[in-house]
Amino acid sequence: MAYIDLQNVTYTYPLADKPSIEDVTLSFDKGKFYAILGANGSGKTTLCNIIRGFIPQFFQGDIKGEVKLQGKNLSEFSLAELAPKMGYIFQNPFNQITGARDNVYEEIAYGLEKFGVAPDEIRKRVDRVLEMTNTAAFADKNPFELSGGQQQRVALASVIVLEPDIMVIDEPTSQLDPQETERVFDIISRMKEMGKTIILVEHKIELIAEYADEVIALENGRLLTSGPKEKVLSDITLKDHGIDMPPSVLLSEELKKRGIETEYFISRKQMMEFLKTLVRE
Ligand SMILES: Nc1ncnc2c1ncn2[C@@H]1O[C@H](COP(=O)(O)OP(=O)(O)OP(=O)(O)O)[C@@H](O)[C@H]1O
Ligand SMILES: [Mg+2]
Repeated sequence: MAYIDLQNVTYTYPLADKPSIEDVTLSFDKGKFYAILGANGSGKTTLCNIIRGFIPQFFQGDIKGEVKLQGKNLSEFSLAELAPKMGYIFQNPFNQITGARDNVYEEIAYGLEKFGVAPDEIRKRVDRVLEMTNTAAFADKNPFELSGGQQQRVALASVIVLEPDIMVIDEPTSQLDPQETERVFDIISRMKEMGKTIILVEHKIELIAEYADEVIALENGRLLTSGPKEKVLSDITLKDHGIDMPPSVLLSEELKKRGIETEYFISRKQMMEFLKTLVRE
């Protein structure tokens, strides 16, 4: 049995004239890292909101089909029951900040307080996460006074500190520099090693190619393709559907066109290994 299961899910926002998610059937296994790709407006955030249970519990509109978590209809869980199981990192980090506390340290601790974690344990976990997410330097600042990139790191920190089993993460690196972006991917892969299920919306295809297990691609609210990254990212035709391909795949495609027998390099690392063998020959 899949951990999270969507069966023929169609969802239309209130007053919208067409569905934003249409006839999507997908399943997620526990402990895997899924990346969701798709052009702007293809339905990535909407899909995340469905998985998180915000649709239909928070957003109105019309949802059809079934969404199950561990075999049970998601609608049978209250949002309060889902909160400790599922972390959600919003596309806009501003939406993540509760405003209930006036510095970053307390903002990150807030969820743990709400869940009734003991103060000693809160301090330990928050300190660890401050270090992990490189947010310690502005722990005393008001979260609303931070830059977008800093807010994005605080948003991530305030969710990973809760250690939820499932993490739904919507474009967490859009305002980060390459070094901070890589750090986020490193944190996410550490979460995966802890057995967490990761569902990530992200445009940075080279990092997806390196870190993710499975890739899901959407187009106009419909499922374009899904499967292991090796399969999905070697389908060069996805380019025609607004999906960026890793440069390493484009290179292998060029080599093939020139009659050089090679597999598709999914990650940069694979490509570099191949290039080294050419130099050696
Ligand atoms: N609250 C809403 N009410 C009505 N339509 C909406 C609402 N939110 C999103 N939509 C529409 O649903 C479609 C999918 O939007 P969604 O935000 O899920 O796409 P996305 O893939 O996350 O886009 P982006 O890359 O810009 O974040 C779009 O056509 C969008 O205009
Ligand atoms: Mg979005």
